[in-house]
Parts: sequence; structure tokens; C-alpha cells
Amino acid sequence: MSNPKRSSFATSILQWHQAIDRRLPWKESKDPYKIWLSEIIMQQTRVAQGTPYYLKFIDAYPTIIDLANAPEDEVMKLWQGLGYYSRARNLHYTAKFVRDKYLGTFPTEYKEILDLKGVGKYTAAAIASFAYGLEYPVVDGNVIRVISRYFGITAAVDSAPVIKKINALAVKLIQGSDPADYNQAIMDFGALQCSPKSPNCEECPLNQECVAYETNQVDQIPFKSKKVKKRERFLHYLYISDAKDRLVLNFRDKKDIWQSLYDFPCMENASSTTLDEKEIKLFLNKKLGLKNLEITPPTKTYKHILSHQTIYGQFHQISVAHLPEKLDDFIIVEIKNLDTYAFPVLLINFMKDKKEWTLF
Ligand code: ADE
Repeated sequence: MSNPKRSSFATSILQWHQAIDRRLPWKESKDPYKIWLSEIIMQQTRVAQGTPYYLKFIDAYPTIIDLANAPEDEVMKLWQGLGYYSRARNLHYTAKFVRDKYLGTFPTEYKEILDLKGVGKYTAAAIASFAYGLEYPVVDGNVIRVISRYFGITAAVDSAPVIKKINALAVKLIQGSDPADYNQAIMDFGALQCSPKSPNCEECPLNQECVAYETNQVDQIPFKSKKVKKRERFLHYLYISDAKDRLVLNFRDKKDIWQSLYDFPCMENASSTTLDEKEIKLFLNKKLGLKNLEITPPTKTYKHILSHQTIYGQFHQISVAHLPEKLDDFIIVEIKNLDTYAFPVLLINFMKDKKEWTLF
């Protein structure tokens, strides 16, 4: 055997994969649309959380043309709660692109797949191998963990030369195996066997060769040098309703968290201090032209943790007798129709507590 390390690595994880028999709804399919959709949904998401979303999407949009023809608001609504909303916007953009540029047929070349918006190297490799059997290894966080532990790579895996080295190893390791089987096996192996915390090394088929295990460094590999510094944000939401149970909503069209979702008019504070009534009244007058209103003291603080930010939100009820027919920068909706809009989870949590809206 010219490359014994590759051979035993690939053979072991393929055998392990056969034995665990992990069934996932998109695994049976060679349809590139279904594979692309599942991979976009599963990015930065646990399989248990993502699977119901995958099933909902396939049910609503059985083909890429169905997805392309859907209104963006509807796509965002289906994505609600899954986070990283740029994935949903890119998904919709790419569906329209494939409809218009490739007449609805998913591209078959790796380079063309990689050129699609929202598709990086990892996703392109997954689609190319699962749908077309092309030999491109997937390299995501799971695979980086498996390879860096197996080869005992102690250098920081978030540095470019180390990523390059891991990619080169991944290219070697896949050679000679069925690309689809191998990629699926290493992904599942990383997620289930070589897990980030307390992996089950005692019962691992690679434990005789794994350098991290042999040298007692499993809990130190992979090593990351860059710490994510989280920014804290304090949002004061004003939910403004009138006597006809209508409510003011804001569409988040700016490049910021939660882009393309809806929320309420919002005052952002640099610190956790509360707002006083005067400030709120000034804001409502300036931004919405509202006067003669009643302000209720804020709710408890709702906390929501994102990868780079921690959000603290408070909700202030504003009552007015009449809302104008139209507002320049906001929309007015009936409370009973709130369910049709996509909101960030922080707002959903608030709405769930607001029993009189009976939404969820
Ligand atoms: N996570 C992302 N893609 C996956 C796949 N194909 N199988 C299991 N987990 C995944």
C-alpha cells in the first residue's frame, strides 16, 4: 500500500460509518438542490435543529424553481428561528440565479458551484461529492477537529498556513475512496465520535493511531488563537399600538444583524441604562410624527446570544388613539396578522409572553 496512513484512516471511518447507520432525510438523495439546501441549513447548526427546517423547505419548495418563485418574505418566515439570516437571503438569491442563468438545472462543475452566492469551499465540496461523485474533500469545523487530532497538529487551526496544511491532508485522505461515502463518513465521525467535548476515545476505531490520543492532548486540539470578542448591545423596542389593534413594524433593511426580518421601532443605547420618557417621546415625534401617547414602563430584559454579539432587549408599550394611515419608514399591521412576518427570536420570546396577542 503506497499510503498506509490514508488507507487505515479512510477504512476505519468508513467501517465506523456503516456500523452507526445514521439516517438523515437528505442522505438518500442525489438531487443537488436537496443537497445544497440541506448543507446551507446545516451550516453552524446542529442536525437536530436543522432537520425540521429542511423538511419544511422541501415540503414548501419541492424544486429550486419553486424556491426561486417564492416571495422573499415567505422564505424568511420559513427560516425564522434558525439564525444567520444571510444564509436565507443568499439561498433565495441563488435559487433565482440558477433559475435564470442555468434554466433551473443546478450546475454540475465544481467551479460553477463554488461561484454561487452563499456557497463556500466546504459546501461546494459537499454538493460536488454527494450529487456528482466528484473527489473534493469537505473541510469544516468537524473535519478540522478530526484531522488535527489524528495528526497531532498543535498549531492554531485558525491561521492560514495551518488551514492550508489541513486542506492538503484532506485531499490526500479522500483519494481512493468513494467521495460521497468518505465525506459523509468524516462529517458524521466528527459530529458523533470525535466530538469537541469529551469524545469517546476509549471506543474510537482510530485510537491506536491518533496522535492527540497517544500524547494525551485530545482536549487541547484543535487549538484556536483568536478569541471572539463579543459586543454588547442594548435595544429598547417601542411597540406602538392604536385602539384598532394595529401595530407599527420596522423592516430591517440595513446591513446589520437580522437583515430582512421585521421588528419594532427601536432606540439603541450605548449602555444598559434605562430610557426616560422624554427621550422616547422625542424619538417618536421625530421618527414617526407621533404625539399624545402613553408610555408603559419597560418589560424585563430579554437576552439573546449571537456568535459576535450579546443582545439585551427591553420592550416599552406605547399606546396612541390613532395611528396615521401610512408612515414613511415603517409599516402598520394588524396584531392578528403578526404571525405572517418573520421576527428575530428575541422578539418571538417577547411575543410568546404577551398572552393577549395569542400568536404562538
Ligand atoms: N452537517 C452538515 N452537513 C451534514 C451532512 N451531510 N450530514 C451530517 N451533518 C451535516
